[in-house]
Parts: sequence; structure tokens; C-alpha cells
Amino acid sequence: MSRHSLLAILLVGVVWTTGCLCDVSVLSVRNSLPTGQACGGSLAENLSSGARIYCPGSEEFTNSTQRWSTLDAPTFRLTVEVATENDVVEVVKYANQQNTSFLAVNNAHGAIITTGRVQNGIMIWMRQLDSIKIAEDGQTATFGGGIIDKTVTDGLWAARKQTVTGGCECVSVIGPGLGGGHGFLQGRHGLVSDQFVSLNMVMADGTLQTIDATHELWWAVRGAGHNFGIVTSITSKIYDVKYPQWSFQNFTFTGDKVEALFENINKYLLQNGTQPVDLWHHAFFSQAGIVLYILQEGVEAVSSAYTAPFLALHPVTTFAGTGDYPDLPGWVGWGRYGGTCHNAGLTATTRFPIELQTYDVRATRRVYDLFISTLNEIPALNRSAILLEGYAQQGVKAIPAKDSAYPFRGSNLLVAPVIRFVEGSKELEESAVRLGEALRDIFHESSGVMEKRVYVNYALGTESVGETYGEERWRLRRLRRLKRKWDPEGRFSFYAPIA
Ligand SMILES: Cc1cc2nc3c(=O)[nH]c(=O)nc-3n(C[C@H](O)[C@H](O)[C@H](O)COP(=O)(O)OP(=O)(O)OC[C@H]3O[C@@H](n4cnc5c(N)ncnc54)[C@H](O)[C@@H]3O)c2cc1C
Ligand SMILES: *[C@@H]1O[C@H](CO)[C@@H](O)[C@H](O)[C@H]1NC(C)=O
Ligand SMILES: *[C@@H]1O[C@H](CO)[C@@H](O)[C@H](O)[C@H]1NC(C)=O
Ligand SMILES: *[C@@H]1O[C@H](CO)[C@@H](O)[C@H](O)[C@H]1NC(C)=O
Ligand SMILES: *[C@@H]1O[C@H](CO)[C@@H](O)[C@H](O)[C@H]1NC(C)=O
Ligand SMILES: *[C@@H]1O[C@H](CO)[C@@H](O)[C@H](O)[C@H]1NC(C)=O
Ligand SMILES: *[C@@H]1O[C@H](CO)[C@@H](O)[C@H](O)[C@H]1NC(C)=O
Repeated sequence: MSRHSLLAILLVGVVWTTGCLCDVSVLSVRNSLPTGQACGGSLAENLSSGARIYCPGSEEFTNSTQRWSTLDAPTFRLTVEVATENDVVEVVKYANQQNTSFLAVNNAHGAIITTGRVQNGIMIWMRQLDSIKIAEDGQTATFGGGIIDKTVTDGLWAARKQTVTGGCECVSVIGPGLGGGHGFLQGRHGLVSDQFVSLNMVMADGTLQTIDATHELWWAVRGAGHNFGIVTSITSKIYDVKYPQWSFQNFTFTGDKVEALFENINKYLLQNGTQPVDLWHHAFFSQAGIVLYILQEGVEAVSSAYTAPFLALHPVTTFAGTGDYPDLPGWVGWGRYGGTCHNAGLTATTRFPIELQTYDVRATRRVYDLFISTLNEIPALNRSAILLEGYAQQGVKAIPAKDSAYPFRGSNLLVAPVIRFVEGSKELEESAVRLGEALRDIFHESSGVMEKRVYVNYALGTESVGETYGEERWRLRRLRRLKRKWDPEGRFSFYAPIA
């Protein structure tokens, strides 16, 4: 079997998943109504035969507009499921003619509430653009603009290659990548956006451009890219798999261990911002207690230098295991069957991210106590969590910060209260936001840094432009100048808009 037919089978298999939003099956789409639906006027005439238009009232439309978080979701008057690059061009031109706002959507895991400013707009569903093509020289691959992480990881793995993607199997590559994009391999190779070699992008005026190192927007698309266009394909660096094997150990702890646990994390894992390049850790708080994952690359078991200090704290449970790189998301609950992929369309899921250098142990205790006591007080928030993510940073820090719009290359930790609730009363929503902000404030005050550094892809949407894109004045001036030039009408001003 040739590598390509193998890849094709793999890709079809990947779409047939259950659980997350990525599971709406391709076949049901292919058997569905023909293009040319009344809600799209004569748009269908200009689209490829693979494109589909879904109108309100149909089950396809309802399914297409489901989102990971319901809070302040955008609303649409039609969904266009594009099948080619040129379909995107045609939809953007059509939307501009109609003076209608539009939004590109891959897997709808973007939760920032600014996208809610799209009302009665046109949804451009990218999921059919999920191709992978590895270049002859094996140094780069070209991916469709709607591809999801699992398709990339599995597709490259079949050729013994890999690249940096986000950790969750159902998140897209472009969604995170345009804002940086954290992933398991970033210690080796940098962020998702650091892999870009070129992007094909449909601009605000409906023209198609190739953006590479020679283009004026090259700096901006790597960190603030959601503001400038719709990516139909990217060419990214890929790498030979040097260390196929990874191992994990997970631990659960009771709340009385917070201080000892975070002292250990600081000392043995984080090592004052020099976490070893082969190591990844992630902790989270929930009402059930504390979980810690330690993952290590290229070993049969996580080194006892890292695990022993945590075993000494008498975890409630601990498990160890080993496998291959594609197994990682499953180990940490980010696989397609895991909870994070699942809950599409059910809850408002709000995040309050902040970047840190190290854990202030006393502040972390205060965060834990406030979190648990509030969940006890307000049971409707009891599915909330706090993410405490510790990626290796070498690959990120190796790239000069001024070279791209991604602003926070100096950070060591990404923490984020994730406050979840089923939307009902305004009062509940206010309680959720109050809790999230209070938790973030404790972390922020403890950081000793005046600025609040907010990862754009986790942002709630109430943060300032400087908080999400960096407070340096030259950055903000440059971003605003480029925005005025390339998107004067603000057609891409819905996901963390610069203006
Ligand atoms: C469960 C979960 C796990 C996550 N894991 C990670 C992670 O490991 N690393 C990380 O860095 N982040 C992660 N995130 C955050 C993630 O980066 C953002 O949620 C991101 O917006 C998701 O992109 P999406 O394409 O899946 O979602 P979508 O909602 O489909 O897209 C998000 C936004 O991106 C823009 N967009 C989408 N497609 C295109 C395109 N082709 N061209 C131009 N713009 C486009 C649109 O403005 C859209 O509103 C995670 C989020 C969730 C919910
Ligand atoms: C279809 O394309 C033609 C030629 O570019 C253009 O004049 C027309 O306005 C388009 N129609 C729609 C509905 O977008
Ligand atoms: C819509 O989604 C539901 C639930 O995932 C699924 O059972 C159904 O087949 C989908 N309908 C269509 C038309 O895709
Ligand atoms: C386009 O829409 C905006 C906002 O809905 C409105 O302010 C503006 O007047 C419209 N322009 C045209 C030419 O219809
Ligand atoms: C941690 O690193 C920072 C920055 O390199 C340095 O200033 C500080 O002294 C270090 N702290 C410890 C405890 O090593
Ligand atoms: C730890 O790993 C074991 C074995 O894979 C698994 O059964 C368990 O659910 C994991 N615990 C957590 C908290 O993820
Ligand atoms: C969480 O709260 C709901 C009510 O909102 C309740 O039914 C459920 O039992 C609670 N779960 C826990 C673990 O406390």
C-alpha cells in the first residue's frame, strides 16, 4: 500500500470519531441536501461541488453551530461548509457584498466571548479542508486550513514524522497556531506558529495571498493571525521522530498537600524556568481533588528523580505507563474520548488565564481554598477546574521575542481557572466571572509582575489588547498599523480583536 493511500484511510478513520465536535460524520454530509439553499441566495452557483450550505431549521445547521462553550456564542443565518480554497474566497466576497459578518470555524473550541459580536452572520466551516501533504524532502508538510490535531499527529506518524500541535485531539492546528499554540513538543521546536513556513490566506477584501517571510504580515500572523484573514492551508516544518516512546506517571492528591506539592513542582520540575526539555507536567484542581501528570520523552518510565519527591507526599493514587507519542492526549484526558473533547454545546466554559514564572506556594493555597469553598457554596459551578500547565520552554525561548506577534516567550507557566456552568440566570454567570477573576487576581498579585499576561487562545474576551498581545508600545503600534492597513473594516475583528 502506498503511503498516500494509507494516509487517506487514516484520515477517513479519524473523522469517524465519537465524542467531540469532530464526530459529525462525513458520510451524513455527503448524503445530505444539495448545495443551493435559499438562505444562501445565489452563492451556491459560485461554490465547488463539494461545498454545502446549511440553513436554520435543518438538523445539519443546528449541528454545525454547536460550540464547546455556549457563553456569548456567535449566531449565524447560514453555514457554508467549504470544500476548496476558492470556496472561502467566494464566501468572503459574498459576505462583503451582503455587508454581513462572517467567522471561520474549525471545531468551535474557541470560547472567547468577543466572537459573540457575530450576530446573524455567515459561518465558514473549514472541516473539509483537512488534507496532509508531506514534501518530497521530508522537511515540511502542507495542511488544510481546517485540519485538527489528531489528523496531523496520526498522518505524520504514519511517515515517522511529527510537528508541534496543541495537545487536545479535537482542537484545530490553525486556531491555536494563529495565536502561538502550545504543545507537547514545544520544548524541542517552539510554538505551533514557530513551525509556519507559509500560509495561504483569504484577506478582508476576498483576495488570496501567500504569506511567508517576505510578506509584511509575516510578523503579525504568528501570534495575532486571527485578525488578518482566513487560512486555507499552511506549510509547516516537520521533524523525524527521534524519540517515539514517551512515559507518564499520574498522581492524585488531597487538598492538604497543596504547599508541599507546589514546592516540589517548583524545585524538581520547573527548576526556575529551566524545566528539562524532555519533560512536560500539568496539574489541575477540581472538586474531586488535585491531579498531577508528569510526562517524559524517550524513556521507558518517568525518571525517579522527578517522581520520587511526589511519591513521598503519599498520593491517594498513582499510575505509570508507557507508549508512543500519539498516545499522549489520551493519558491526560485530552483524547477524542476524553471529557475536554466531549461537552460541546452543553455548558458555558469560561477561562481566566494568566502566565507565571513560578508558583507562589502561599498564593496557590489561597487559590485552592477559595476555589473549593466557592464550589461548595455554589454547586452549580462544581464542574469547574483550574489548569496549571507546565510546558518545556527551550524551543519557545530560543526565538527572539521581537520576531513575531506572540508576546510572552519569557513565561514559564500557563495557569487558568476554567469556570463551567449550565447557562441559566444572570446571577450565576456573574458569580462565575467573579470567581474566575478573583482566582486570577490572586495569581497575578503573587507574580510580582505589573502586567497581566493573558494567552490569547484562553482569554475570556474582557481583557485589554495589551494584556493579550503584550503591553510593549512598539507591539501595539505595529499591530494597529497593520490592522488599519490590511483589515480597515474590521472583518476579522471577532476573535480577540486588535481593533
Ligand atoms: C479542550 C481544549 C483544549 C485546548 N488545548 C490547547 C492546546 O493544547 N494548546 C493551545 O495552544 N491551545 C489549546 N486550546 C485553546 C485553543 O487554542 C483555542 O480554543 C482555539 O481557538 C481553538 O481553535 P479551533 O479552531 O479548534 O476553534 P474554532 O472556534 O473553530 O476557531 C477559533 C477561532 O479561530 C479563527 N479561525 C478558525 N479557523 C481559522 C482559519 N482557518 N483561518 C483563520 N482563522 C481561523 C476564528 O476566529 C475562530 O473564531 C484548547 C482549547 C480547548 C477547548
Ligand atoms: C459569483 O461570481 C460572480 C463572478 O465573480 C460575481 O459577479 C457574483 O456576484 C457572484 N455571486 C455571488 C452570489 O457571490
Ligand atoms: C447531528 O448530530 C447528532 C448528534 O451527534 C447526530 O446523531 C446526527 O446524525 C447529526 N445529524 C446530521 C444530519 O448530521
Ligand atoms: C453595513 O452594516 C453595518 C453594521 O450592521 C452598518 O452600520 C452599515 O451602515 C452597513 N453598510 C451598508 C453599506 O449597508
Ligand atoms: C530564577 O531565575 C531568575 C531569572 O533567571 C533569577 O533572577 C533568579 O535568581 C532565579 N532564582 C533562583 C532561586 O534560582
Ligand atoms: C492515571 O492513569 C491510569 C492508568 O492509565 C488511569 O486509569 C487513570 O484514570 C489516570 N488518572 C487520571 C487522574 O487521569
Ligand atoms: C454538583 O452540583 C449539582 C447541582 O448543581 C449536584 O447535582 C451534584 O451532585 C454536584 N456534584 C458534586 C460532586 O458535588
